[in-house]
Amino acid sequence: MSVSDRVILIAGATSAAGVKVAETLLDAGARVIAVGSNRSRLDDAYDRLPRVKTFVCALESSRSVGELGVSIRNVWGPIDGLIHLVGGYRGGGGMLEQTDEDWQALESGFTTLRNTTRAFYNDLVASPAGRLAIVSSTSVDNPTAANANYAAAKAAAEAWVSATADGFLRDQAARRIDPVPQRAAAVRFVVKALVNDEMRRESPTKNFISHTDIEVLATSILDLWDRDAAGLNGARLRLFLESKTS
Ligand SMILES: NC(=O)c1ccc[n+]([C@@H]2O[C@H](COP(=O)([O-])OP(=O)(O)OC[C@H]3O[C@@H](n4cnc5c(N)ncnc54)[C@H](OP(=O)(O)O)[C@@H]3O)[C@@H](O)[C@H]2O)c1
Repeated sequence: MSVSDRVILIAGATSAAGVKVAETLLDAGARVIAVGSNRSRLDDAYDRLPRVKTFVCALESSRSVGELGVSIRNVWGPIDGLIHLVGGYRGGGGMLEQTDEDWQALESGFTTLRNTTRAFYNDLVASPAGRLAIVSSTSVDNPTAANANYAAAKAAAEAWVSATADGFLRDQAARRIDPVPQRAAAVRFVVKALVNDEMRRESPTKNFISHTDIEVLATSILDLWDRDAAGLNGARLRLFLESKTS
């Protein structure tokens, strides 16, 4: 099973991590579609990777995501991979500082995941190697008052991906009538924080030991197409150095 020629959509693709994932998949022969909410940020991010097809879409709108699906299928056919990277962090203070404004911003990471997985679910099930991945956080394991909103939004996203994994299983290997080999897999990567070279340059004395380099994330996403879907489906993959206290 290889990533070559697979059509892979990155939802929320303009961050350093999004661009690194796109570049890594492209170098391995995938056909990559990058989606963001803003044309000029997409153009800035993908200026040096013209083979990545970029789409603007308000992913929090299920209607817009449905239309995006139609546009993509018209040109590229069904997708084989959905890498959902919409996120962002808000937090701090205690329980009473968990504001509605912050929740609204964080919850959009979940809503956009719900929209994209529903819009592309049939594509992923039909693909010979359908893959869904999100990047979650260790906050789900250890929620604190300061990150209550954030941990709750990430926990919801994790539950949604686990439910999608159940859907993949029921539509393939566990199908009651005429089961087929498991081909699709939904996974959750878990990090404490991401780091890239620019961050290291900006803070040369900072210790990033527990951070996950975006290159490690990108390679781990690429590896999804080298691994057996049956073993992968529903996995929670920790991508950081575990300390004795973590
Ligand atoms: N960075 C970390 O330390 C860290 C830690 C734990 C987990 N994670 C998770 O890792 C993933 C990637 O994180 P990141 O920091 O690289 O990226 P990010 O800043 O969380 O956001 C990813 C992208 O999503 C796009 N986006 C946001 N809302 C959108 C919408 N409604 N419609 C379409 N696009 C939208 C943004 O681009 P535009 O605004 O240009 O559209 C942005 O480039 C996220 O899920 C994040 O929660 C990150």
